[in-house]
Amino acid sequence: MKKISLLLSILALTLCASGQSQVTLVVDAGASKHQISRHIYGHFSEHLGRCIYDGYWVDPAMQVPKQDRIRLDIVDALKKIKIPNLRWPGGCFADEYHWRDGIGPREQRPTMINTNWGNVTEDNSFGTHEFLLLCELLDTEPFIIGNVGSGTVEEMSRWIEYLNFDGVSPMTNLRKENGRDEPWRVTYWGVGNENWGCGGNMTPEYYVTQYRQYSSFAKNYPGAPLRKIACGASGANYQWTEVLMQGLAAGGGRGAMWGIDLHYYTRPPRGRIPGQGVPPQGQQQGVQIPSQASATSFTEETYFATLRNALRLEEIIEGHDAVMTKYDSLKRIALVVGEWGIWTDPEPGTNPRFLYQQNSLRDAIIAGSTLNIFNNHCDRVRMAQLAQTINVLQALVLTEGPKMILTPTYHVFDMFKAHHDAMMLPVKFTSPDYVIGDQRLPALNVSASKDSLGVVHMTLVNIDPNNPVNLSATLDQVKWSSVKGQILTSARITDINTFDNPSNVRITGYDGAGKKGNLLTAVIPAKSIVLLEIK
Ligand code: AHR
Repeated sequence: MKKISLLLSILALTLCASGQSQVTLVVDAGASKHQISRHIYGHFSEHLGRCIYDGYWVDPAMQVPKQDRIRLDIVDALKKIKIPNLRWPGGCFADEYHWRDGIGPREQRPTMINTNWGNVTEDNSFGTHEFLLLCELLDTEPFIIGNVGSGTVEEMSRWIEYLNFDGVSPMTNLRKENGRDEPWRVTYWGVGNENWGCGGNMTPEYYVTQYRQYSSFAKNYPGAPLRKIACGASGANYQWTEVLMQGLAAGGGRGAMWGIDLHYYTRPPRGRIPGQGVPPQGQQQGVQIPSQASATSFTEETYFATLRNALRLEEIIEGHDAVMTKYDSLKRIALVVGEWGIWTDPEPGTNPRFLYQQNSLRDAIIAGSTLNIFNNHCDRVRMAQLAQTINVLQALVLTEGPKMILTPTYHVFDMFKAHHDAMMLPVKFTSPDYVIGDQRLPALNVSASKDSLGVVHMTLVNIDPNNPVNLSATLDQVKWSSVKGQILTSARITDINTFDNPSNVRITGYDGAGKKGNLLTAVIPAKSIVLLEIK
């Protein structure tokens, strides 16, 4: 016995000396209570930059497979990762969008200025029918955001009638004249977007009153009961949630909310790059403060600070959940994270209001860590949307004319689709630290689930770019005999996919896991995302 503990101590010392950490992890299948809604894996597409126009919806002359003007190569790529829902038309755009401008013969549709995103002319060629055709092609559920900021109660109410009513009515007739007999039966319905900011600069108290009025006329038509989603807070603004819950949680009937739409973006730090000196006194005027927010060129210090900002979302979700639980202890109201992702500087040479950014292994690590957070909080977080699918912010797909590439973030969603609608399995462990100077972050984050066939999936993210994590796991109440896996990693955290090298960062086979008696052992390499399938 003494010899064994001596050997273990020597092993631990050797691992420490080599920078490797040993983690013991327990997956408790017996304690599984909550389902991971596939809607956590949703996406967002706004009329912004090249997401809709020159993204999904292209020039008729472009030489790519298309249905109408919708790019089918993009549709195929997104179908592969089974996107469960798509949020549209914004974003800030939603609160200046008037849906009637986007129906009927395209050549007769009025134009408008997209004031939030570069003052470009919106020709309304992509409207309600086009969006819902896109959703049908993607086999995904629409999540439409109505205009509260600059619209009217009547306008929103008529849109819902146009979309969802099957009887005889002016809106049904109009829909039929425009070529669609059957209602679409859209159920996910957002009552405004960021109404504390671009959606009307409202106080929470004023928004609550607006919500009550708008939602009273947002009707449930047969076969289309609405799941109304209220505008939620920005980041850690718990006061917004408090006022919303106080005013609406007990609403029932007309004032009922299905969910609250929280937004949180990960921003890299700005300002002086650590390690670079401050300009001497007297020479500071006119000196450009270098940005650390490049999507492709950043130091490990910036990486660390950015990851810290990303991981903060867990504390923010817990903060909002605690407020919501005061009014809704049964967790009937969902926390929807309707916009999330990393927001870097735009790519040099592009229109800064188009928010076109590259996407690196770092961003994939942020995506994997965020999805693990959502999975582990699936009792409250039942829907989320990454911003945004194509060519905007943390995109899944980038395009250049007819060329298209899949980003590292796309591959994360491909791996994590194993969790869709599976039962979450609680995982207990103490993470080793990822240390820079005197600062530390948990190096490892994990989530696990069991699907309807009894297969257990674990997703493990090692954010430490320098050290692997060795783990041994006990799977309580799971019968299993084999483990296989996939991995996403690359040589550098700044690695990206480009139009010349589209598969630089890609999923590969993983053989770092095994079975030793009842223990599952695995080595999670530095800066990697690993999916294990255990059965
Ligand atoms: O996703 C870009 C913008 O970020 C959205 O339009 C807005 O809702 C948020 O501030």
